[in-house]
Amino acid sequence: MVQQKQDYLWWQTGVIYQIYPRSFQDSNGDGIGDIPGIIQRLDYLKWLGLKAVWISPFYPSPMKDFGYDISDYTAIDSIFGTLEDFDQLVREIHQRNMKIILDLVPNHTSDQHPWFLESRSSRDNPKRDWYIWQDAGEDNAPPNNWLAMFGGTAWEWDEATNQYYYHAFLKEQPDLNWRNPEVREAMYNVMRFWLDRGVDGFRVDVMWHMIKDKLLRDNPPNDEYLPHMATYEQLLPVYSTDQPEVHEIVREMRSLLDSYEDRMMIGEIYLPIHKLVSYYGNDNDGTHLPFNFMLLSATWDASSIARSIDEYEGALPMYGWPNWVLSNHDQPRITSRVGIQQSRVAAILLLTLRGTPTIYYGDEIGMRDVPIPFAEVHDPQGLNMPDKNLSRDPARTPMQWDNSKYAGFTSGKPWLRIDKSSHRENVESQKTNEYSILRIYRRLIELRNSEPSLMYGNYIPVASDKQVIAYVRKYEGYPSFLVVLNLSHRPAYFKPVHKPMSGTIILGTVPDLEGQPYQDMINLSGDEGIVVKLDDHHRQ
Ligand code: NOJ
Repeated sequence: MVQQKQDYLWWQTGVIYQIYPRSFQDSNGDGIGDIPGIIQRLDYLKWLGLKAVWISPFYPSPMKDFGYDISDYTAIDSIFGTLEDFDQLVREIHQRNMKIILDLVPNHTSDQHPWFLESRSSRDNPKRDWYIWQDAGEDNAPPNNWLAMFGGTAWEWDEATNQYYYHAFLKEQPDLNWRNPEVREAMYNVMRFWLDRGVDGFRVDVMWHMIKDKLLRDNPPNDEYLPHMATYEQLLPVYSTDQPEVHEIVREMRSLLDSYEDRMMIGEIYLPIHKLVSYYGNDNDGTHLPFNFMLLSATWDASSIARSIDEYEGALPMYGWPNWVLSNHDQPRITSRVGIQQSRVAAILLLTLRGTPTIYYGDEIGMRDVPIPFAEVHDPQGLNMPDKNLSRDPARTPMQWDNSKYAGFTSGKPWLRIDKSSHRENVESQKTNEYSILRIYRRLIELRNSEPSLMYGNYIPVASDKQVIAYVRKYEGYPSFLVVLNLSHRPAYFKPVHKPMSGTIILGTVPDLEGQPYQDMINLSGDEGIVVKLDDHHRQ
């Protein structure tokens, strides 16, 4: 059944933008981005046509995992600003008719969080059970074989109280015990704190990790493990993640959000599609958007991508709204995965598929992963893993705003080096260049924001072969659009298989074809993509 237009909510129709606050804009010359810096750049985000910003953590933190190790959930780290700055940010975002989504990290705290300091202070501390403490196994071995994402065992021995505690990530990031009702209530109060301050939603960190097997059974070996993979992948995390009980927690979070008006939550979940979609809940009572990361790992060829889209579309429950992601702060950037030319095609894909797109800051100007000399590596994943190429620093470098020494990001020394291309590739230079990738992003967002078919129309696959993928977006009564993308570097013919189509090319990876009529067959250059506004008779 086709939904009525007015049923669509802001997080379904709008485009989300992820800001990694350390790297977006520094306002005080310490080389680290901050909240006043974000405020300075809000007009740019508005100009881009975005609906919402999701900001990675800016809470007080020892920064062992750059903000994902939180020592106080209801304050702002002084390197990022103050609560007053935050309130101003919310006000200014709302004044621009945009929304703000915060990062919520409920799975683990910092080991410096007062909850953990209390918990580890003695076995009979009232907060002992807020974390996952276990006696040693035989010969003082860890309680089971679980591995930490950042390397080594996931159990840390505590000399003072003679027990191990569990940490899915760094030992400085102990996991909370979500089986304890007090933990739940404490985290729900954190949510209330921010919602009451006007926050419109949360991106929930590692949602699928939140609760673990009650019996803490050993994880089985992964037969597909290869030596170049992260050590964590030696085992299949069947008992340490994605437990049935997690859905109860997600439901509780959802009902809390539903008690406020127009709020939403995104779940960070790396799972195969059939498991991922279970996080929508049984009756639209789960997370609004379980992040769909399939484009982060899909092999970049037309048939695999087409298959992935079909698989995803087919797996969604009736009430499940799709979403798409090309990059984030944990993964190599799209430009570095598929190349600068293909990243333009990828932009069209991201912004014309059915569902909410999330853009990672800097992707809109084609920022690429920046080589970081080993002595300058910050990321614990880069420092701890045998494969140094697993560092996430290269995808977290400062935003390139202009051609000044530090790209307009800071007047001081940036915390992470800036790409040497920044004097050429930056927002300022691309704003006036009609061949820039920024122009494509802006026009795509503009088009999406104004065309119901692109905002919430059906997705109709038209064709796919080794090179090309083509689909139509259609919402009855409004203009329909045909999207044809050449995912290869070689020229490729496209002709619709079933019935001829006609219209006008209104957007392309380069402006050269724009305005030209499209009639049934087209021969695209390598790395070329087009959006065709179909003639009126295609509306029905
Ligand atoms: C997922 C976050 O995206 C990542 O950056 C972080 O390292 C882990 N969660 C641990 O919090």
